[in-house]
Amino acid sequence: MNQPVMQGLQLNAPAYVKNAKLLAWVAEIAALTQPERIYWCDGSQQEYDRLCQELVQAGTFRKLNDAKRPNSYLAWSDPSDVARVEDRTFICTENQADAGPTNNWMAPAQMRTTLQTGPDALFQGCMRGRTLYVVPFSMGPLGSPIAHIGVELSDSPYVAVNMRIMTRMGRAVYDVLGVDGEFVPCVHSVGAPLRPGQQDVSWPCNKTKYIVHYPETREIWSYGSGYGGNALLGKKCFALRIASTMGRDQGWLAEHMLILGVSSPEGKKYHVAAAFPSACGKTNFAMLIPPAGFEGWKVTTIGDDIAWIKPGADGRLYAINPEAGYFGVAPGTNVKTNPNCMASLDRDVIFTNVALTDDGDVWWEGMTDTPPAHCIDWQGQDWTPEIAKETGRKAAHPNARFTVAATNNPALDDQWDDPRGVALDAFIFGGRRSTTVPLVTEARDWTEGVYMAATMGSETTAAAAGQQGVVRRDPFAMLPFMGYHMADYFRHWLALGEKLQASGAKLPKIYCVNWFRKGEDGKFVWPGFGDNMRVLKWMLDRVEGKAEGSEHVFGVSPRYQDIEWRGSNFGEQLYGQVASIDSAAWQQEFLLHDELFAQLGGRVPPALLEVKRKFQTRIG
Ligand code: OXD
Ligand code: MN
Repeated sequence: MNQPVMQGLQLNAPAYVKNAKLLAWVAEIAALTQPERIYWCDGSQQEYDRLCQELVQAGTFRKLNDAKRPNSYLAWSDPSDVARVEDRTFICTENQADAGPTNNWMAPAQMRTTLQTGPDALFQGCMRGRTLYVVPFSMGPLGSPIAHIGVELSDSPYVAVNMRIMTRMGRAVYDVLGVDGEFVPCVHSVGAPLRPGQQDVSWPCNKTKYIVHYPETREIWSYGSGYGGNALLGKKCFALRIASTMGRDQGWLAEHMLILGVSSPEGKKYHVAAAFPSACGKTNFAMLIPPAGFEGWKVTTIGDDIAWIKPGADGRLYAINPEAGYFGVAPGTNVKTNPNCMASLDRDVIFTNVALTDDGDVWWEGMTDTPPAHCIDWQGQDWTPEIAKETGRKAAHPNARFTVAATNNPALDDQWDDPRGVALDAFIFGGRRSTTVPLVTEARDWTEGVYMAATMGSETTAAAAGQQGVVRRDPFAMLPFMGYHMADYFRHWLALGEKLQASGAKLPKIYCVNWFRKGEDGKFVWPGFGDNMRVLKWMLDRVEGKAEGSEHVFGVSPRYQDIEWRGSNFGEQLYGQVASIDSAAWQQEFLLHDELFAQLGGRVPPALLEVKRKFQTRIG
């Protein structure tokens, strides 16, 4: 195949790349961004090792002590580039109403002028002096009918190596693409071109940031950030924002959900998908180790962040994890809160923004009870417990992350990679709420479940830039990740449920949970982590029709005696604190539901307004 040459720049495509559209697009983006060279990733181990070595030479990576943490690296980002930037994230639909009031919107033509075509277009020459990495990836098992392919063009080698862990990345993707296969084009630049001879910095980025989605043409353009969900475009941008739109059009769901398997002592296997906002314990829940008293029970991980859920021919909902790795929050992770995760992190990890210990290993707040006497914090400064006490400075950034392959997880489910997915028995929705929302409630039907998910509130965390600890509505834990109008998404969930029910299928049960109620002392009342198994068992027993509960305004919740307490000393009085429903607090809460519905306007499905009216009448 003829390869275009751009002003002396060779396309350099390997002979095995035969997709004409891909070749033409890479040439087009290279002509726009003017990189110094183009490199086509093959996804091999040798390539990964070489790129990591280059990142060490460039000062972006530090190789950790190989005896303590084999084949692992640490990166420290620019202090201004540490989290997702929701206020710089755009959904560019032709019609503003299709993006909806919860998304930032700009008309596609205007955004293209800003990014690509205008006189000061940001992508014009933005890769000068850098390498353009062509990163082909599959979301979902390669070649599976439910997987989708993307290609990210990025000027960040940090992105290339992270994408190799987070997705099925490399040469085999080209075989699936063939000559005319479809892919989602994803363009990423850190927005820091280099003049000839200019010395690079260890974490190039730009204070101007744009994370842009064109759902109608299924394109992603990201500028100015090298961090996480802003830059690893297979994750939030593709697998949630673009995929949610594909799901709407094609009758499936792209969700911010972990997927876990639970095996009972009798050998029965269940599958549960659970939505929680960012940094609210999805990875911990997906890797849960059942507590004492639950001998014979086992939880296995299928995914920790994203689920693609499609109806099967039998009318059941089947879920796959489109990712191949975990990009998890490090602070708070330790051998007690998540032993499986700690074991996953023994080797082959990329850490970002954690602290470096004096023996060349990593540390973060909450990793050990006793902090190291000295370490270098994520901003490269000396850190001691005394300095922390005086200044409040953290050793690790609260949104510090690890990137690790799913195959490192000792609790990985046998079916995690099964292209058919796993049939779901239950959905769980949970926010972070110090008050108001009880430990667990079962929705009486699909519509009430959709209402609970749609009106979910949660306190904001460090996963996104901005103020933390503020309660905001986070419908389905998807507020930052919706690719279209939120009210149309509610309608999509209702319609899917109706369709499956009409076919005679048994729908998964829907539960709403809150692990985060606080007592008067400001401390969490519920122990959480492994003890969440007690709640999970009650749910599965409900699925089997074996557990009791008491019906109240919003649905059904377990009484103290309905939960398995073997091995626990959590008493009835404490249970009252996490399970109680306070009418006055709920009347306030309904005002916040009103605000959400008012924001979404006339598109809110009437069925949800009707559920609200019933709940409010019942609460008085
Ligand atoms: C994530 C997030 O990185 O939700 O998963 O922010
Ligand atoms: Mn997430």
